Amino acid sequence: MKIRICKDYEEVSKAAAEIVRERLAAHPDTVLGLATGSTPVGMYERLAKMCQEGRISFREAKSFNLDEYVGIAIDHPESYHSFMGRHLFDHVDFAPGASRVPWTNGENPLKDCAEYDGAVSAAGGIDLQILGIGSNGHIAFNEPADDFTEETHVTELNESTIRDNARFFNSIAEVPTSAMTVGMGVIMKAKEILIMATGANKADAVYRMVHGGITPWVPASVLRLHPNVTLLLDEAAASKIDRGQIQS
Ligand code: F6R
Repeated sequence: MKIRICKDYEEVSKAAAEIVRERLAAHPDTVLGLATGSTPVGMYERLAKMCQEGRISFREAKSFNLDEYVGIAIDHPESYHSFMGRHLFDHVDFAPGASRVPWTNGENPLKDCAEYDGAVSAAGGIDLQILGIGSNGHIAFNEPADDFTEETHVTELNESTIRDNARFFNSIAEVPTSAMTVGMGVIMKAKEILIMATGANKADAVYRMVHGGITPWVPASVLRLHPNVTLLLDEAAASKIDRGQIQS
């Protein structure tokens, strides 16, 4: 795992956008795996600006998002469909239908999950997977558990995740309690992974990801087994790691 420590959130966002720009310039038909949450917002802002300035194009690219709440209206302002429209899709030039966000109405989740995995495979898998990390070490909504789930699945969200996400809703009672998420298999099969963590509230999760045991109880720790991962941190998120021990 390559670890890069940047001064602050702005620098992390800039470095991440530059990596995406380089990959798209080299391979315009890149298949991107995309994340929601606060962390990638600055990167999306930069990518939208680059696209508007003609410095980058998503015309031949495809994207697959990591997850979506179950039981939320697709047009709810906090659905991940709305989030992606607001922060990226409405501002860049993806071809119609080239960007997918998981969706199930809950009636036949197994079928919806299998169809999503089939679409990722049909696209040739993910070339560049963007990730954030939960304060409990989750990636996508693969929550700490006894075992990893390889495939896309519906999962109950941990109390800590519900608490963390309550900031986007009027009250904690409004936060959906389950989500459709890609499994660890989709993520680990990506050719390249870019994971970002910013802010002091991520310092413990980052420490356990980098220095702790590789365990499904810290889902992000398994990324240490992937051959091509870049971890972008700001100073606050990096504050607990042993800088002497990391290769960057
Ligand atoms: C979002 C996702 C989550 C977030 C994580 C961090 O699609 O899959 O794993 O990356 O919860 O969220 P933020 O960035 O809001 O701290």
